[in-house]
Amino acid sequence: MFKKLDIIDEIDNRLRLVSEEVKLPLSKEDKKIIKDIIKHLTFSQIEEYEKKYDLRPGMGLAFPQLGINKRIIVIVHEVEEGIFDNYVVINPKVISHSKEIIAAAAGEGCLSVNREVEGHVPRYARITIEGYDEDGNLIQVRAREELSIAFQHEVDHLNGVMFYDRIDKNKKFYTEEEIRLI
Ligand code: NI
Repeated sequence: MFKKLDIIDEIDNRLRLVSEEVKLPLSKEDKKIIKDIIKHLTFSQIEEYEKKYDLRPGMGLAFPQLGINKRIIVIVHEVEEGIFDNYVVINPKVISHSKEIIAAAAGEGCLSVNREVEGHVPRYARITIEGYDEDGNLIQVRAREELSIAFQHEVDHLNGVMFYDRIDKNKKFYTEEEIRLI
């Protein structure tokens, strides 16, 4: 039986905490939570389940969004219709990034933010993340474009940063000449 995740809302101050490094090996409980997140995010991106379970579509979630103060992020990226790549990174660190800055043309959304927020969020076009997988292996992930944005968004959650903190109040939108919009 599928059970929706209990995702906390932006009004909850726990989203503003800096999360703690996770000691490896991962507990069984954390592994179960990761499985549940992957299922939730996957279902949220499949129309049939999205409707059936009344889910908001989302491709990423960080543990603090469940009120759990741990540095774990999960991304479920639809690479083509119905095909998903799952990323689980424990204690992620951005170890390098492009100079080039991009932004999602339509702005960003967050499963903890239940309202529309207007504005472009500047992000690195390409990043390399280092961290650990669920089995405790050191891994590196390279991400570009939409996936790069997703990783930066989720890592921000581990530091108590919300996407709208990065929207310039005096200049919410950029032109294509200023930032590449994707
Ligand atoms: Ni978010």
